[in-house]
Amino acid sequence: MPPISAMSPDPAPGPFERLVALVADDLDRVGALIHERMSSQHAPRIPEISAHLIEAGGKRLRPILTLAAARLCGYEGEDHVKLAATVEFIHSATLLHDDVVDESAKRRGRATANILWDNKSSVLVGDYLFARAFQLMVETGSVRVLGILSDASAVIAEGEVLQLITAHDLTTGLDRYEQVIRGKTAALFAAATEVGAVIAGRPEAEVAAMRTYGDALGIAFQLADDWLDYGGSAESLGKNTGDDFREGKVTMPVILAVQRGDASARAFWQRTIAKGRQGEGDLEQALAHLHATGALEATRQAAREEAARAIAALDAFPEGEMKTALADIAGFVVARTV
Ligand code: IPE
Ligand code: IPE
Ligand code: MG
Ligand code: MG
Repeated sequence: MPPISAMSPDPAPGPFERLVALVADDLDRVGALIHERMSSQHAPRIPEISAHLIEAGGKRLRPILTLAAARLCGYEGEDHVKLAATVEFIHSATLLHDDVVDESAKRRGRATANILWDNKSSVLVGDYLFARAFQLMVETGSVRVLGILSDASAVIAEGEVLQLITAHDLTTGLDRYEQVIRGKTAALFAAATEVGAVIAGRPEAEVAAMRTYGDALGIAFQLADDWLDYGGSAESLGKNTGDDFREGKVTMPVILAVQRGDASARAFWQRTIAKGRQGEGDLEQALAHLHATGALEATRQAAREEAARAIAALDAFPEGEMKTALADIAGFVVARTV
């Protein structure tokens, strides 16, 4: 993954760069805090693995959302920096664990920690980063914020387990799939934005609206991610495509392709996803089925609808450049290639 500043070759800044620019000073402080807190005095493997993942970059989308939500809500204190770092620590911990579970070899353009070190180190350093996240959020002293972020952490883990037990199961429907992505991805987006409104002391209706914005944005983000796992390029994503197919994940593109496919298509999905028997050319054939049934396009369309729900949730907030940037980021999420 190239540095954020190099992500768009365009001279005109895109929606992502515009949002980053609005929170740039705070984001630098978040970066410094993350760097400070990922260290360990006693176990050198912790900073080695943390630095390998964290210094590879990443979009920092979730902490950016916390900073932007707090600012949109008129927050003028300091806790948003701590909470943004907390959110990115939780995200980093889940990525270390996720790459073990998914047996992924590439993340942020680099070989994963599970490949360079091993699964044990990835799991344990992931646990450490989770714990560091909790230490940071405790420093805010807000029990409500602690509740939101610890609830999200439980829901993320639950979503990952739900996904694990629905892998290879072609009876998985869209409801169950939505439950998985709301857990594994949208829960952290929703918490990231909700805490911004909470620390700003906004009325409950606005806190709820900020949470809805994050939830819808997170669902849109994961729908796009599931589309990109088939339709994207490994080079721009910095992670391998085709991982979901190889792992037998029953994502929206697959659910729709099974529903819409003929008998021979269904036999193909039975063999490759349900039985996990895959060979040369199968990923290409999966792509052909996904295109032919319009499953990929329908997944993108669902992402666009969630993005529209995110934008609608911003109605509760005052007009201005921050609100415009947050609305535009919903468009970025569904059009993204990174
Ligand atoms: C990856 O998230 C995990 C998913 C929820 C799909 P990002 O695409 O935000 O990862 P980084 O932090 O930018 O690398
Ligand atoms: C990412 O999920 C991890 C979490 C959201 C907890 P995925 O497995 O779908 O995403 P990538 O493709 O590895 O980034
Ligand atoms: Mg993964
Ligand atoms: Mg995963």
